[in-house]
Amino acid sequence: MKLLIDEQKLTAEIEDLANFSDADPPAVTRIVFTPTDLQARDWIRARCEEAGLRIRQDAIGNTFARWNGEEPDALAVGTGSHIDAIPNAGKYDGVVGVLGGLEAIRALRRAGFRPRHSIELLIFTSEEPTRFGIGCLGSRLLAGALSPDDARKLTDKDGASIEDVRRQVGLDGSLEQVKLPEGYYKAFVELHIEQGPLLEREQVPLGVVECIAAPASLRITIEGAGGHAGGVLMPDRRDALCAAAELILALEHAAKTSGAIDTVATVGICDVFPGAVNSIPARVRLSVDLRDTDLSRRDSVLKALESASRATAAKREVAIHSELLNADAPAESGPEIVAALSQACLQHGFAHKIMTSRAYHDSLFISRIAPVAMLFIPCRNGYSHRPDEYSTPEDIERGTLVLAETLATLAS
Ligand code: GLV
Ligand code: MN
Ligand code: MN
Repeated sequence: MKLLIDEQKLTAEIEDLANFSDADPPAVTRIVFTPTDLQARDWIRARCEEAGLRIRQDAIGNTFARWNGEEPDALAVGTGSHIDAIPNAGKYDGVVGVLGGLEAIRALRRAGFRPRHSIELLIFTSEEPTRFGIGCLGSRLLAGALSPDDARKLTDKDGASIEDVRRQVGLDGSLEQVKLPEGYYKAFVELHIEQGPLLEREQVPLGVVECIAAPASLRITIEGAGGHAGGVLMPDRRDALCAAAELILALEHAAKTSGAIDTVATVGICDVFPGAVNSIPARVRLSVDLRDTDLSRRDSVLKALESASRATAAKREVAIHSELLNADAPAESGPEIVAALSQACLQHGFAHKIMTSRAYHDSLFISRIAPVAMLFIPCRNGYSHRPDEYSTPEDIERGTLVLAETLATLAS
């Protein structure tokens, strides 16, 4: 079978999808269930229908585009990723796995391939935590890693619940129906940009992921006492932002001294109330993102943060409340999919590296119900989650070709 990737069409589609954005180009912002996200979803659905795929959408908006195999009742082979984008992001995160997955399917059809197992492109809802505070919302529900009851408790910053938001956009099925049965997928493969610098630095064009690091996230609220920035003397203050600063540095210290370079901690949101230049911060909300390849090391940093919180609360006479939003286990790839990906690389003479994903992905949760693996392509300077994120058309084409080859092996 001679597989040809239509690189020009794929590149044009990546550019077209980037136009559905709430940020000025080249930045992309596409938050789940905003009008922009809904338009992007319609556009993707039309591309999938054009390719002859049958579309199904579940109650949280996960979209399945299926190419029926010759044995339609056999377990499906899945591929896909997400199209939501954090504020001020780039064009490639998630999108390469969705549009590359679609082009891989089109290439297989053009080559006359007839799959025995159905091949399904899956576009996950809200891989990014921007709106509801938790990443991989769609895949957590698909895998049963988040219960419908816990999902119903999630709200966005305006207090709108998932139930309200999804009903407003016409998703009125029950969340109980989202979970996939064990054994729905024979295998799941996700193509993605690396979001780190290793492939580019080592000049290796492809990465086959054998493990996805364990993510955790917390929301921390610090309550101090506000007051007049001129009138309240320093010894009398209970400044919530100064307490937050201590906590942020304690977290950084714990991550840097964990004993491994794999521990990474970030405070990406700091909301200060009331937020006036001449008013002492009375309340601060922090969002913490903590990851590691080793679960116990990740959890020891969580413990260090808890003890720093107790010490800071006592010393500064502030109240600190910490809410753990998620603390997930790492995922191991399925050896048979890693082998199929490696074999496809070898077959085309492409060097590849077996590697760890430090970013999380929907595959982390799909791994709980099916064997998964991921294929990484380089991205310039390792940049991601920023507007200058970039992967070359050649790297995207190469990744799509290896994905198509691997889907063919798995679906035969
Ligand atoms: C995914 O977007 C991540 O934050 O790893
Ligand atoms: Mn992302
Ligand atoms: Mn992603």
